[in-house]
Amino acid sequence: MTIQRTLILLKPDAVERQLVGRILSRFEQKGLKIIDLRSLRFTQELARQHYAEHIAKPFYAGLEQYIMSGRVVAAILEGCEAVEVVRRLIGPTNGVEAPPGTIRGDFSLSTQQNLVHASDSPAAAEREINIFFPNFQPEN
Ligand code: CMP
Repeated sequence: MTIQRTLILLKPDAVERQLVGRILSRFEQKGLKIIDLRSLRFTQELARQHYAEHIAKPFYAGLEQYIMSGRVVAAILEGCEAVEVVRRLIGPTNGVEAPPGTIRGDFSLSTQQNLVHASDSPAAAEREINIFFPNFQPEN
């Protein structure tokens, strides 16, 4: 078992629906630590950087419009096997299919407006932490 860090984004629908506290508390209840946190608004440049692997996909235009539609909250979570644990807490991409008990399963009925993004691998976590927290100092 390895202590890992991962990046989450609480997307515009989570902020608009005032679910930020409830969603963050799920991660804290599990035992994960919030070790950095900020609120921001996506630019088109940031959307293209963060979602680079999706740019050629048919849903990208809608995804970009949605992620830029309101403020988001970015956080670094730390804990045992954090990357996989956080992905399991969030549930599958499509809220309709996400099982009850997962965040998307309990709060979303959408594939696009699915409340939370989380890094899908340790390499992605490192890349995404650097995007949203370029000055992050692990030892502080
Ligand atoms: P996320 O985990 O942030 O990663 C990529 C995002 O693209 C995903 O959550 C959804 O918000 C969105 N997405 C993925 N697949 C689709 C799809 N088929 N249609 C619309 N949006 C999608």
